[in-house]
Amino acid sequence: MSDTGEELPPSLLIRDLAQVASPGGRAAPLRGADLGTVEVVEDAYVLCENGKVSAVGAMRDLGPLDADVDEIDGRGLSAVPGLVDCHTHACFAGDRVEEFAMRAAGATYEELHAAGGGIISTVRATREAGELELAAALDLHTSWMLRAGTTTFEAKSGYGLDRDTELAQLRVVERAGGVPTFLGAHALPPEFADAGPAAYVSFLVADVLPEAAAVAEAADVFLERGAFGIDDARRYLEACRDAGLSLRLHGDQFTEAGAVPLAIEVGARSVDHLESTGERGIAALAASDVTGVVLPASALFLDRPMPPARALVDAGAAVALATDFNPGSAFCESLPLVCSLACTQLRLTPGEALAACTVNAAHVLDRADRKGRIAPGFDADLVLLAADDWRHLAYHLGGPVVRVVVRAGRTVSSGPA
Ligand code: NIG
Ligand code: FE
Repeated sequence: MSDTGEELPPSLLIRDLAQVASPGGRAAPLRGADLGTVEVVEDAYVLCENGKVSAVGAMRDLGPLDADVDEIDGRGLSAVPGLVDCHTHACFAGDRVEEFAMRAAGATYEELHAAGGGIISTVRATREAGELELAAALDLHTSWMLRAGTTTFEAKSGYGLDRDTELAQLRVVERAGGVPTFLGAHALPPEFADAGPAAYVSFLVADVLPEAAAVAEAADVFLERGAFGIDDARRYLEACRDAGLSLRLHGDQFTEAGAVPLAIEVGARSVDHLESTGERGIAALAASDVTGVVLPASALFLDRPMPPARALVDAGAAVALATDFNPGSAFCESLPLVCSLACTQLRLTPGEALAACTVNAAHVLDRADRKGRIAPGFDADLVLLAADDWRHLAYHLGGPVVRVVVRAGRTVSSGPA
């Protein structure tokens, strides 16, 4: 039994792996030239005990083991750390396939949002779903994410925009083992159309935040024209920080509206999107402790310019990659696909992409001491790729590259051989 009373997994040996690949060193976040450093052990094993990695090394150095160790034959496979998705909106009901078809026919995301569709149409579906239905929807979405190699996920509220549904979303994410983020300031709900964003932020702070702060780890705001302006965003974030939450921002997605300076001013953990960030924003971010989270699947899905990830890394900024999985702007749960986009669209190397969705994403979620690396003492979260070179993670564009997923020392997903 563990300290928490949970039954411990049996010891697990993954043997004869073609490669074990893990981001270099022990620092987090990785920046600049360090971001692309990958430690690779060829013809390798990983030993997991009590849900943690206890040893990693070359097969020739593997000593005798207890008889009761489960084994995975890793021949022809390579191991990377369990992937960490630090930005998702996976807790939603319904879908937006109708809107997707309308966009394909020429409507824009912002036009649909302004006409009361977009985020608000998912708010309607999410409010109508009870907590059980919402939990089932999240369960389905996280099963897709797990199959794609995500062993740690964050998920935001923001499709309730009322007290009960926002809190239900956060509880559902927490119960599913995710990292809950309070995104009450995602859009202006119809009930506040006359009162306006300032009145809605006052409502969030007074009526939702006290309970949300007991469940969520972070708060997030959509700082954008048509969503929340800088003054309301600042007031919301400061109140959330005072309630003990770490801070995130959706910023510079369509317009540069001051998200980077605000993120730095309030000591945010990250500023996410950055498709519209210019040179000054890049330099400011590079000189700060705020991680820039880039979401190329979202830019691709909305046919928007890609975020300046190459320039951010070269300037020395801490950069993480995430899916932004949601029904409107990124119906994509796959971090391997996002790694592909990072290499082909953002001009990151496979090593930079790997670190950005493991150690740096774990840093955004304040878990870099135990997630994002394959190293002794780290959680035994691993992805076994169906290739003898770990770079297939990014190379295989949308293919079945994930063979086995191990979380806390147990096999939780296993694809066809
Ligand atoms: O990160 N931009 C704001 N929020 C989400 C999209 C949410 C939605 O369209 O449902 C995003 O892209
Ligand atoms: Fe998002």
